[in-house]
Amino acid sequence: MKKILFILTLILILPLSLACGSPEEEAISPQLIKEGQQLYTTKCNKCHEIKPIDTHVRTGWISCVERMQEKDPTWISDEEREKITAYLSASVKE
Ligand code: HEC
Repeated sequence: MKKILFILTLILILPLSLACGSPEEEAISPQLIKEGQQLYTTKCNKCHEIKPIDTHVRTGWISCVERMQEKDPTWISDEEREKITAYLSASVKE
């Protein structure tokens, strides 16, 4: 009986600990950056030419992308904004 409880506990706890992830996984993943780059070149040239990424430093880009999303929230979703910001954050200096 105790053994069954132990196994049950493992089954319940394992997915939880996996979901929390390790600190390394919190770093921006290469996949996210790649997707962000693609979105940058397809989403950010709707109203104007693509801006050079050295136009802003990291914090400047975060607010700039938010401002651009507000101009047309139907064109850039929250998820897309996050990916674009991830790409820009990883590509520019502080
Ligand atoms: C709905 C139209 C629209 C979309 C989509 C858009 N922009 Fe803009 N953007 C503008 C307009 C209009 C201006 C000029 C007025 C201003 O600065 O608010 C501008 C100005 C800018 C500027 C210069 C001003 C500044 O703050 O440095 C940058 C950089 C920029 N956009 C980046 C982007 C990026 C990155 C994206 C994609 C996330 C994007 N834009 C998507 C309309 C848009």
